[in-house]
Amino acid sequence: EFRRVLFRSMTVPEGYQWHVLTSWGDPLLSGATPFDPLTRGSAVSQSLAMGDNNDGMSFFALGQDHGVIAVNNEYTNYEYLFAEGRCISIEHTRKAQAAHGVTVFEVRRKAGVWQAVPNAPLNRRITANTEMRLSGPAAGHAWLKTSSDPTGTLARGTFNNCANGRTPWGTYLTCEENFNGYFGTASALPDNAAFKRYGIGAKDAGYNWHPFDGRFDLGQNPNEPNRFGWVVEIDPMNPHSMPTKRTALGRFKHENAEVVLSADGRVVVYMGDDERGEHIYKFVSAKTIDPNNHAANRQLLDEGTLYVARFSAVDGKLSGQGEWLELTHGKNGLTPENGFKDQAEVLIHARLAATVVGATTMDRPEWIAAHPSRAEVYVTLTNNTDRGVKPNQPLNGPNPRVKNVYGQIVRWTPDQGQHTAPTFQWDIFVLAGNPTLHRDLMAGTPNINADNMFNSPDGLSFDKDGRLWIQTDGDYSNANAFAGMGNNQMLCANPTTGEIKRFMVGPVACEITGICFTPDQRTLFVGIQHPGEGRKPSHFPQGAQAVPRSSIVAISRNDGGVIGA
Ligand code: FEO
Ligand code: CA
Ligand code: CA
Repeated sequence: EFRRVLFRSMTVPEGYQWHVLTSWGDPLLSGATPFDPLTRGSAVSQSLAMGDNNDGMSFFALGQDHGVIAVNNEYTNYEYLFAEGRCISIEHTRKAQAAHGVTVFEVRRKAGVWQAVPNAPLNRRITANTEMRLSGPAAGHAWLKTSSDPTGTLARGTFNNCANGRTPWGTYLTCEENFNGYFGTASALPDNAAFKRYGIGAKDAGYNWHPFDGRFDLGQNPNEPNRFGWVVEIDPMNPHSMPTKRTALGRFKHENAEVVLSADGRVVVYMGDDERGEHIYKFVSAKTIDPNNHAANRQLLDEGTLYVARFSAVDGKLSGQGEWLELTHGKNGLTPENGFKDQAEVLIHARLAATVVGATTMDRPEWIAAHPSRAEVYVTLTNNTDRGVKPNQPLNGPNPRVKNVYGQIVRWTPDQGQHTAPTFQWDIFVLAGNPTLHRDLMAGTPNINADNMFNSPDGLSFDKDGRLWIQTDGDYSNANAFAGMGNNQMLCANPTTGEIKRFMVGPVACEITGICFTPDQRTLFVGIQHPGEGRKPSHFPQGAQAVPRSSIVAISRNDGGVIGA
C-alpha cells in the first residue's frame, strides 16, 4: 500500500518498481532522533542525520547483500530547513552547515529490498565543519593560510558538494562546486580579479552564515574561500579517517571527477567547471597505480599534471579536434609576469591560468563520464544563455547555439585510444532541443523527438554494460521553449546508435541527480533533489501534508533483472 501511494508521484517504466532508501533528516548515528516535520530538527539532530539535497553518490560493496553508500549533500533549502524560512542565528548557521557535506551510510538487502542501516559502524557525517587536510602542491601556500590555520594545511569542512567520483583504490571523491556563495561581508572589499572570476564578493548567495560565523566573513578571513573549490578524497571504509583536499586537481567550481586508468597505470581524472564560459580539465598522475598497495595509491592524486581543453572545428561543423593545454608553472605563459609565482598559484587560480593558455569556453560543463570499455568520454554541457551574447563566449564547435537554453552532450575520443594522449577527436552526441517548436539547431539533433525531449542534461554515468544514463536539472515549467518536456527526468542512451529513451520522470520541482548501481546492476539508486523547491506544492516522498524531502530512491525490476537491459 505504501509503495502504491508513492508510485503516483514519480514514474518508472512498466515492469519496474521503486522505494525510498533514505531521506533528508533520517536518523543515522547513535543519539539521532526521528525527523520532526514541525521543527525539521536542530543543529545537533541534523549533525546525526542524513544531510539535505543529496547529489552525486557511489556504492561500495561489502558483500552480496551489504554495502556502503557515500553521497554528497550539496546544499539546503531554507524554506524547508527553517520554520522562519531564513538563517537568523548561530544555531541556524550550525544547522545549515550540518545539512551540507557528505553522508556515508551502510545499506543491507533484506528479503530482496535494500534498506539504509541506522547506527551502522561505517555511518558518518562530514559537514561544513569537519576537519580535513589540504595536500598536494598548493598545501601550505600563503594564500591558504588563515588565522585559525597558520600552516595552510588544515581546512575545516566541505560544502556545495555537487557530483563525485570513485577511485580504483576504493575511495570516494566529492567535488566542491558553488563554494563562493557562502562567503560575504559587511566590510569594504578591495578590488580582486580572482575573487571576481570565482564570483566571490560582499554579497553571499543568501546562506547568511557570515554574520554569525566569522570564518565566512571575507573582511576577517579573506583567504578562507581559497580553501574551497577542491576535490576531496574520503575513505568510506574508515569513519575516523581525515578527508583530504587534493590541490593538484585544481581549484574551480567542480562538478564531478571521472577517474580512469591509462594503459600504463597512470590515473586520469576528467573534471568540469560548471559556470557559463568555463572549462574542462584533465589531471594525469605522475606515478602509476600499484594494485597491491592501496596505501601508496592514496598519494597518486597529489602529484601529476593538470591540463585544460581546447576544442577546434571548421566553422559550423559539429565535430573536430582538440588538445590538452598544460597548466604547469613556467609553461604556456604561466609566469610571474602574468600573475603566477609558482605552481600553487596556478592551481589556486586555475580558472585564470586556463584563460592565459587559451582554453575553450564551454556551455557550463557538468558531469563527465567515460565509457567502461572504449576510450570515449562524454560531457554534459547543461545550457548557457550567455553563449553568443557575451564577447568572451562566441559560438564555437562544441557550443554551437546562441542563447543555448537546452544544452548538449559532447564526446571525445583520445588519440591512440590513450587517455594520457595530448590530443583528441570530438563530436556532438546530442543537442537537446524541442523539435515540436523549432526547425533549426534548436530542434536538437535527429536523436531527439517529441517522446524523449529534455533540457539541461547534468548527471551522466555509464553502467558496466555501457548504457549511458542522463539526468536533467532543467526548466520544468513545461511551457514556452520547454513545452512538452515535463518534470526533470532520467534517460538512457545507446552510445553506439545514439538512441535515447526516457526512463523515469521525477516529482514536481525536483532535480534528478546522483546515480549508482549495486554490482549486480539489479538495483539502481537515484537521487531526487529538492522536491517542491521554492514552495511548489509537493509532499514527496511521504504524501499527505508532510514536508517535501530530498531522497534517494532504489529502483529495481519486478522480475529482478538487470536495470535497463
Ligand atoms: Fe551542482 Fe553543476 O550542478
Ligand atoms: Ca549537477
Ligand atoms: Ca545542477
